[in-house]
Amino acid sequence: MRHFLSLYDFTKEEILEILSLAIKIKKEAKIKNYIPYLQHQSLGMLFEKSSTRTRISFEVGMYQLGGKSLFLSSSDLQLGRGEPTRDSARVMGRMIDMIMIRTFDQKVLDEFAKFSGIPVINGLTDKYHPVQLMADYLTMIEQGKDKNPVVAYVGDGNNIAHSWMMLAGKLGFELRIATPKGHEPWQEIINDAKEISAISGAKIMYTNDPKEAVHKADVVTTDTWLSMGQEDKKNQKIEEFAGYMVDTNMMKLAKSDAIFLHCLPAYRGYEVSEEVLENYANIVFDEAENRLHVQKGIMVWLEEKRCLKS
Ligand code: CP
Ligand code: NVA
Repeated sequence: MRHFLSLYDFTKEEILEILSLAIKIKKEAKIKNYIPYLQHQSLGMLFEKSSTRTRISFEVGMYQLGGKSLFLSSSDLQLGRGEPTRDSARVMGRMIDMIMIRTFDQKVLDEFAKFSGIPVINGLTDKYHPVQLMADYLTMIEQGKDKNPVVAYVGDGNNIAHSWMMLAGKLGFELRIATPKGHEPWQEIINDAKEISAISGAKIMYTNDPKEAVHKADVVTTDTWLSMGQEDKKNQKIEEFAGYMVDTNMMKLAKSDAIFLHCLPAYRGYEVSEEVLENYANIVFDEAENRLHVQKGIMVWLEEKRCLKS
């Protein structure tokens, strides 16, 4: 049985296989051909943080696959009153078929993966957001930006930056990460990215100069400067991230046909200007929609792997 906790756990071939499956499922859905790949299956969706895209896309995705989803807010569960994670995991594993978790700590996912006996999907932790990056790469494929692309990530060295590092490291493309001093990606992720890049030939560069990162890039991307749970750091971060907004001048440094991606929600006037977000809105909202298609691919792929093993 496989889980979807981090792209680190996947080979390049597996990532591309899931994306092919997602492309097939997306084509079917576009002609309303909803094949019940997961008929009568239940997906638990455990949230310890807010969500718009993740919640809606998993819920609708499971419905379109012929299954059912359950929205589980940790504050409504006994988990939120101190029931041990491992007990909650074992209970859920007896009743549902798959679980998606959005939580603060990657260790909660690891514990669910260890004790639940069902596939666990990472719906965002402080460390990674791998389902988002699958949607981002699907969007790059659709935009013809998947042939040796140069990707520039400008902003916070957070879960999205870490996930870009895993994706580039696995697929072998060039990634430039520009963060202000003190907001670099975690050292353990830099080490993991180095290890996997040695195999794939990926080039991952870290800089404190956004212009250097964006120079002739094919894809420019960013994320909020204030991840969920960091609201108290707002004033400090706004000061420290001065010069890091992706605006039209910054986009001009990239290739003339470069695209802009944003996982959303976007904070206009901070990490991205109103003009850039609206100029690239078609692509950014394709990217959001692709969450639905790619996660259906991930769930069907996980189910296929479980059936192969059993
Ligand atoms: N990008 C993303 O995961 O959005 P939500 O927080 O709305 O789920
Ligand atoms: N880095 C952001 C991503 C939101 C989708 C956060 O963790 O809040």
